[in-house]
Amino acid sequence: MNIAIVGATGNVGRKMLEVLEQKKFSINQLYLVASSRSAGQKINFNGKEHEIYNLETYDFSKAEITFFAAGGKISEQYAEKAAKHSTVIDNSSFFRMNPDVPLIVPHVNPEAIDGLKKNIIANPNCSTTQLVIVLKPLHDLFNIKRVVLSTYQSVSGGGKAPMDELIEQTHRSLKDKALRNAIPIKTGVVSDSNMNMSKNFTKQIAFNAIPHIDVFSDDGYTKEELKMVNETKKIIDKNIELTATCVRIPVLISHAESVNIEFEKPFTLEKIHSSLSSAGGCNVYDKREDGGYMTPLEAEGKNETYISRIREDKTKKNTLNLWIVSDNLLRGAALNAVEIAELLIKKNNE
Ligand SMILES: NC(=O)c1ccc[n+]([C@@H]2O[C@H](COP(=O)([O-])OP(=O)(O)OC[C@H]3O[C@@H](n4cnc5c(N)ncnc54)[C@H](OP(=O)(O)O)[C@@H]3O)[C@@H](O)[C@H]2O)c1
Repeated sequence: MNIAIVGATGNVGRKMLEVLEQKKFSINQLYLVASSRSAGQKINFNGKEHEIYNLETYDFSKAEITFFAAGGKISEQYAEKAAKHSTVIDNSSFFRMNPDVPLIVPHVNPEAIDGLKKNIIANPNCSTTQLVIVLKPLHDLFNIKRVVLSTYQSVSGGGKAPMDELIEQTHRSLKDKALRNAIPIKTGVVSDSNMNMSKNFTKQIAFNAIPHIDVFSDDGYTKEELKMVNETKKIIDKNIELTATCVRIPVLISHAESVNIEFEKPFTLEKIHSSLSSAGGCNVYDKREDGGYMTPLEAEGKNETYISRIREDKTKKNTLNLWIVSDNLLRGAALNAVEIAELLIKKNNE
């Protein structure tokens, strides 16, 4: 199997390389592709240096599977061209709601692979992936009516540049106390004379929380919030009502979610624990004592979605509260993309 990764130098691309290496994925030729900025540089994979190809001149017929992890604009421009020669697994949001493109979390809806029409498979948004892995086993048992969700999302969800900026803003704020609350909002132009600006965020991110991820829509929700609503419906069940508030926090890796779930059927906490404990991709870590819950820092580098703080919502019938944490780059993006490739290979070998 020849494999290509478009966006191989980015957060998700590099994480995919780690996953492929760890899984000892059977690869004949590996093609690493990025922008002209990185072309000619080398990345080590399995002890061997691989040169980076320039996307503008890369020949998509070289690989049977091509992962895209270079943003929606690049997927829009190149994925259909690539799909003429290679099955595309796309990490961007561009094709996710396209009815001819399956949106797959192999732990949740592997059967969706049967709907492959355009030779493109979409990988969900990272905050959706960790959520549906937890919602699906509960929906199967108790039928979810409504979900109320608040996310606490790390800066790596926006790519590698926001990670660098969080570190840089934190250093700057600690060095100059006066600056701590005074990094002006983005105006779009950064020059040497206004280096105090926030380049990748709409407000200062260091020592702060920003209730805004992706662009606003007319109804006041952000695109990130709408992605969670629409993708959850597409992956699990269109009848699930979901409302979300997505918040960026000054954490480097892993997203956390506070989730309130109303079921049609009554549940017991024992049954919730046992079903989540045996569900693929889930890990229940819930001790009701100091530190008996998962945090973003601890979830980093782990394959599973952690579930903590499981408790009844005593204000509403058949309603549950949970805290969900997962590594957004790994579980939320790279691992799921590679698991989609494994699913595809299994189906093609049937
Ligand atoms: N981060 C997450 O948690 C997450 C989760 C799910 C999905 N995703 C999606 O995955 C994709 C990548 O995200 P990321 O976090 O890995 O971003 P990133 O760290 O900023 O990396 C971007 C990658 O895209 C490449 N790229 C940018 N412009 C390009 C161009 N004009 N031509 C060719 N390559 C270009 C970059 O190459 P250079 O190094 O050469 O610039 C780099 O390899 C995005 O669509 C994102 O929405 C991300």
